[in-house]
Amino acid sequence: MTRYWHKKPLLVRGAIPAFALSAQNGEPLDSPIPSHELLKFALQDEVESRLVRAKPWSFNQGPFSKKAIPSIETPDWTLLFQGMDAHHPSANKILSWFRFIPDARLDDLMISIAGIGGGVGPHFDSYDVFLIQMSGRRQWKISEQKDLSLNPNLPLKILQNFKAEQEWVLEPGDMLYLPPHVAHDGIALDAGCQTWSVGFRSPSFKELLQEGLWRLAESLEDIPELENKFADPKQRATLEAEQLPDELIQQLAVKVKELKLNQIEGFLPGITAYLSEPKQQAFFTGPEDALNPKAFTKQLGSKLLIPQAQTRILSLGKQVYCNGELVTQGQTPAAVSAWQSLSANKFLKANKPQNLDKSSLYEAYLAGWLIFEH
Ligand code: SIN
Ligand code: CO
Repeated sequence: MTRYWHKKPLLVRGAIPAFALSAQNGEPLDSPIPSHELLKFALQDEVESRLVRAKPWSFNQGPFSKKAIPSIETPDWTLLFQGMDAHHPSANKILSWFRFIPDARLDDLMISIAGIGGGVGPHFDSYDVFLIQMSGRRQWKISEQKDLSLNPNLPLKILQNFKAEQEWVLEPGDMLYLPPHVAHDGIALDAGCQTWSVGFRSPSFKELLQEGLWRLAESLEDIPELENKFADPKQRATLEAEQLPDELIQQLAVKVKELKLNQIEGFLPGITAYLSEPKQQAFFTGPEDALNPKAFTKQLGSKLLIPQAQTRILSLGKQVYCNGELVTQGQTPAAVSAWQSLSANKFLKANKPQNLDKSSLYEAYLAGWLIFEH
């Protein structure tokens, strides 16, 4: 992190050692999602998919009909699937390996599959990315060039003057890290080439502060004293009736100070709540045969409780936020510590399950935010 993160590209050969080891043993591993299974995601409404063809460049948004999905044997196309961590446990698993970076920065896992020659063309991204080769080989060319002008005549964001400075062929298990704005071009060398990319989110300061401010404003609802009306017994007769009264300004300044509205700590709960909101397209359904509260507590003793793949959980100190809500508020110490453990480990293992019957944990289970691992 010190040397490369957000600074310079890094090629990691054998980032997933299992690929090279299995190849040595003569039983090569392949992507945990075989081509035919992956391609089926292009038919689904819930999965954000894109098809990019080269020679000439064209771009289409999914979902696609069966007929529109290219055959693996044909060249010069790639299909990209966004947010696959929500749709496949292996994608979710790989994303969890990147928890050396704070959860608040992790976005999602994208998977691309391509025919020989397929790729999205030379481009740059505004976010950091880890590109993991999961099936077949891909040639990556990169450049830290200053000229990032795009070709105005294409339906895709493709660089006008890409001049490769370095290039490598990535084998399954190899990984390339790129900081934002490094130009890159990945070309599939084998049919069914799969690249899994770990993507990050970096909200603007405007977004963070606005979201924090809105929630801070809402939180004033919970302070009954603020219902008190402004009073100005010290007001003197004035010759400047049009001016906002000094008395009002002074009293407000005292409130701002008392409420610490001028300190960052006041914004952090709202910002954490915002960052813990699930993606817009996420949806949750409660369990079909929901356990009753007693049975829920009992089940905690034998099964792992985990966040549903689209659930986001973040902590601010000892407080835990799940899917945009502060879930530790007004909870028993047992429930608070269960949430803290869920937030830190992304699973809850209760050896001696405490009574969590009436907890927000049980509510989150009913809402489908938390599920029992099978
Ligand atoms: C790909 O997987 O082909 C594209 C990933 C990227 O360049 O960001
Ligand atoms: Co890219």
